[in-house]
Amino acid sequence: MLLKFMIYLLILFCITLNNISYGQSSMGNVLGRNTISLNGKWNYIIDPNNNAEGMGIAYDARPTGKTDFLEYYFDESASLQVPGDFNSQLTELTYYENYVWYKKTFAYKKNEKRLFLHFGAVNYKADVYLNGEKLGIHEGGYTPFQFEITDKVKAANTIIVKVNNKRYKDGIPELGYDWFNYGGINRDVNLIETPPNYIEDYFIQLKKGKSDVIKGWVKLDGKSVKQQVRIAIPELKLSVIAKTNDSGFVSFEFNAKVQRWSPENPKLYKVKVTSENDTILDDIGFRTIETKGTEILLNGKSIFLKGVNIHEEISAEKRKSVDEKDAFQLLSAAKELGCNFVRLTHYPHHEYMVRLADKMGLLLWEEIPVWQWISFEDTAVRYKMNYMMKEIIQRDKNRCSIIVWSVSNETMPTAKARFQSIAKLAQLTKQMDDTRLVSSAFNNIRYDKNQLSIRDSLIEYMDIVGLNEYLGWYTPWVGKPSEYVWKFDFNKPVIISEFGVEALYGNHGSADTASSWTEEYQEQVYKDNVTMFKNMSSLRGVAPWVLYDFRSARRMHGRYQKGWNRKGLLSNGGEKKKSWFVIKSYFDSIKN
Ligand code: GCU
Repeated sequence: MLLKFMIYLLILFCITLNNISYGQSSMGNVLGRNTISLNGKWNYIIDPNNNAEGMGIAYDARPTGKTDFLEYYFDESASLQVPGDFNSQLTELTYYENYVWYKKTFAYKKNEKRLFLHFGAVNYKADVYLNGEKLGIHEGGYTPFQFEITDKVKAANTIIVKVNNKRYKDGIPELGYDWFNYGGINRDVNLIETPPNYIEDYFIQLKKGKSDVIKGWVKLDGKSVKQQVRIAIPELKLSVIAKTNDSGFVSFEFNAKVQRWSPENPKLYKVKVTSENDTILDDIGFRTIETKGTEILLNGKSIFLKGVNIHEEISAEKRKSVDEKDAFQLLSAAKELGCNFVRLTHYPHHEYMVRLADKMGLLLWEEIPVWQWISFEDTAVRYKMNYMMKEIIQRDKNRCSIIVWSVSNETMPTAKARFQSIAKLAQLTKQMDDTRLVSSAFNNIRYDKNQLSIRDSLIEYMDIVGLNEYLGWYTPWVGKPSEYVWKFDFNKPVIISEFGVEALYGNHGSADTASSWTEEYQEQVYKDNVTMFKNMSSLRGVAPWVLYDFRSARRMHGRYQKGWNRKGLLSNGGEKKKSWFVIKSYFDSIKN
């Protein structure tokens, strides 16, 4: 346990070494703390040429004398809603990928508590200022971060955030990707109050491979952190005491007879962690997940993952998904399809998605946006990959619905330093959390007529092998789908992590011509895939690409796409295409 924590610190140290000061990584279980929401209307200034910084906008000064003047002024500007992307809120920003300055004021009555400014995520870079002082930066559009402002907060305060959703050669994701680049303060912003010595983080899950031993750790932060802590699960009449060391850390394990969480029975327990002056409550499920040969075992029983891919978007409103209501819409649509599994693509989604999946009984695959082309040869990129994975494990490690941490999607085997970067990340991921499976989605499949295989040195580091195949779309069928043979030279579970084809909802006609973009063509490809799946012995799951049509600037067909990727089983308006019913009946035929 201590090793895992040291790994966290090492990654953090490496980041600092590389001059990427990311502020502080987020405390655990923000939703379970004393928060003051800063959601709502924030003033903004659009700054496409990055002029405002030089004018001192971060200090939000005012003219003082008769002769001076300033060429920025927030307070009469209109406002943007936070959380929310700015592209969907302002027509003039629809395709904007540049700087926007945000401003929020708040009053605060100082007291003996510590105070943190916490962001659920800002896409893609954020420079954060409080009362004219730069608190720090964060890079990465999908992970939380925070700054302690205990000694900086005043009675009246101004937060200014320079948000920038430009694309970067050393970014994660990099320059070109097939989803919409929604920029902005896309997730909740909170002030968080804690006692001087507070419960900074904890990990409480079933010990790897054990169904009746709970293992974990607690980490306190503050000046006097050598304390007695208690982990209680009232429903189990369990209450365990442990003593933290000088750095506020203690690991523990104890026997527990739990009702294990599953899609059929998403049992969550109230867990209470207390220290000598802090208390935090959480809802935690306990389950085991492991592989045995080509089987995936949930709670020791083989399971077939009936999945679907979901982007973090409310397509009907052409905007980022931001809250629990949005999460409920997306995950309910997956449930209606008959899913027990959801791949959150291609980046960590907001915390409401993972917490709702815990409650609704949906298994999750969570990934960081190491998507196709990435500059692995750049040291900073490798640190960012590791840091991003650390940030999301730190946020979601107590969410039992998550069974897979995925380290990449469709990276090019020819990319420099790809192997060592991803292999290293896979190892670090396992060191940070050995209770879950590690995977990747590969598309470097070898198509030899109807004989399919994959050889990739990274497979050795994966517990599950995800394969993205687009037979019937990017790769025409050769002969009958029923005669396709997949050959694997590894003894691991395989899931088809993506497959699909485009169709415009309501467009009907030929079932054998790809360029018709018809529902009938899409339906036939799905039927052909199901036929093929039935002949794949080590197949242990499938996830159609994708639940809803989603926005992507690279999808430019003037009749069928118009800026939408049309591979949805559902249209952007939520209407079921004919292929939806093919998957529904396939999933209903699979008894786990
Ligand atoms: C790829 C990729 C997706 C993309 C999809 C497509 O496999 O992983 O992000 O949207 O194919 O081409 O539609």
